Parts: sequence; C-alpha cells; structure tokens
Amino acid sequence: SWTPAAFVDTTVAALKEQIGNEKVVLGLSGGVDSTVAAILLHKAIGKQLHCIFVNNGLLRKNEYSDVLLQYKGMGLNVKGVDASARFLDALAGKSDPEEKRKAIGRVFIEVFDDEATSITGVTYLAQGTIYPDVIESVSVNGPSVTIKSHHNVGGLPDFMKLKVVEPLRMLFKDEVRRVGAEMGIDSKLLGRHPFPGPGLAIRILGAITAEKVSILQEVDHIFIEGLRKWNLYDKVWQAGAMLLPVNSVGVMGDERTYEKVVALRAVESTDGMTADWVNLPYEFLQETSNHIINRVKGVNRVVYDISSKPPATIEWE
Ligand code: XMP
Repeated sequence: SWTPAAFVDTTVAALKEQIGNEKVVLGLSGGVDSTVAAILLHKAIGKQLHCIFVNNGLLRKNEYSDVLLQYKGMGLNVKGVDASARFLDALAGKSDPEEKRKAIGRVFIEVFDDEATSITGVTYLAQGTIYPDVIESVSVNGPSVTIKSHHNVGGLPDFMKLKVVEPLRMLFKDEVRRVGAEMGIDSKLLGRHPFPGPGLAIRILGAITAEKVSILQEVDHIFIEGLRKWNLYDKVWQAGAMLLPVNSVGVMGDERTYEKVVALRAVESTDGMTADWVNLPYEFLQETSNHIINRVKGVNRVVYDISSKPPATIEWE
C-alpha cells in the first residue's frame, strides 16, 4: 500500500539514479506542488538543483520576500528574480482576461529562460506537475510554473529543450501534501490555498496599474489574515478579493467620496471544478469590511460574492 515514507524513499533513489551528476532547474511558485517537488529533488541531488522564484509583481502582499526567505531556510539553492516592472509593462493597457494571461505567460517564459540558460550545464527541467494536471483538469498551481507548450509562438525557448523530470506526476493533491509533511515541510506552507499563476492580475478587473495592485494587496491581506485570526482559513478551500472597475458613492464626514468597490470571495471545493460560496460568520464579515474600509485608502465599499460554480467561476476573470 502507498505510504508517503515509501514514496519519498523510492522517488529519491530513482531521482539520484536518473539524474546522476547533472544539473536541474526548477521554477518555484510558492505553492505546494513546486515546493514539494523541489524538496524531493533537493534530498536526491542537493546543490545540483537550481531553483528560480520569479516575482511577477502580482503576488500577495509580502509574499515574494516571505516565501524566498522560507525557501532559503529550507536549504534550497534558490535565486529570486524580481521582474515586477517587466510584467507591469507587458500588462499596460490590457484589460481582456485572456490577453492578460497571455502577456504574463510570455513574460514568465522570457524571464525564466534568461535565468535558466544562465546556469551553465543544466540538462533537466523539473516541474511540480501532479496527476490532475496530467489528465488535463484545472491546474490550480498554474501555467506560470507548469509550462505548457501552447504558450510558445515561433520556436521553443532554450529551457524547454531540456529533459523533463516530474516527480509528482502520479500523485493527487492530498498525497502531495502528505509527502511534504513526511519531509518536514511547514504545515502552514502545505495548507496554503491555491493561488492562480497570473495572480492578482485576474482579480483586478480590467486594466492593471501598480496602484491597483497595491490597493488589492492590502485588501487581500486584511481578508486572509482575518480568516487566520478567526480560525476560518483551513475551513476554506480558496479565498481572495477582487478589485472592481467601478467607483461607488460614499460619505466620509461631510464629504462625498467616489471610490473603489472590492468583492470578497471564499469557496469550498475539492478540485476547483465546482465550488460553493462559504457561509462566513456575519461578525467576521462585519469586522473585515470595517477594517478594509477604514484602512485601505481608495476603497469605500465591500461586497461578498454569494455565487457558486457553476456558473460563476472562482476567479472573476
Ligand atoms: P476558475 O476561476 O476557473 O478557477 O473557477 C479554478 C481554479 O483555477 C485557478 N485559476 C488559475 N490558475 N492560471 C492558474 O494557474 C490561471 O490562469 C487560472 N485561472 C484560474 C483558480 O484560482 C482556481 O483555483
């Protein structure tokens, strides 16, 4: 019968055998799959594993620095690449969801290719692909790390000519988490909600600006920290905030305001294919709404999304 301990032993041995003295490059996303894949490879080949963690500027508040530190603490050989400006440039003026996704995918590949090819002698590309990705269901951890060939127009980037190693491709998500726990990965990291590869770009409806990203990071941070404080985080499959492309009227003192609306979304799901909105306590919603409106400049209204999937997707774009 399958046990995480046996999986770790046989996989580490097989990776050692397969890779020998060669070098491997892997893109970390901060998510569970790429992290567990990295730790498995690290056990097998140590410093022959070169990890790259790209900041696309669309991550959660403080996520880039926090996660990078965490990776370094795990002993991983990881290079952080802050490419925020490059992503924002590529997104400028784009408001169509699929165009935004394409722009992000393209820049990610360019950045990753530059970094991967600057490591001399790399022969393998490792990916945190899991079984549901293999069977073509939704990839919750994203094309930005699980790179798919349809992103490429006109020839493969150099790193895509590498041999591919995917140690998790026979595992389901819960098995990946158990393998991670077996190897001592922090439970807070293993319990993280899924987060889309294009990040906050698909939660800012319409065109993206640096200012909107920072407003949404603050709102999201208050919401997520609130869920943790109220012990609701682990009861929710995924949660986040959307920044709507409309202003609404408010009053503050004697002044009329005309500011942004944010929508909070929290869902229960097992695989993201279907989802139900979560019945969060009114007291929690009340506190969260007050915190957001009082603390985040530029937001004067908070709404809660009570739509299930189908038909309403989890992300608004
Ligand atoms: P939807 O919005 O389709 O989302 O109900 C289902 C799950 O997939 C995630 N998602 C994405 N993940 N790249 C990703 O890596 C994407 O473009 C993307 N779009 C949606 C979403 O966060 C949810 O977990």
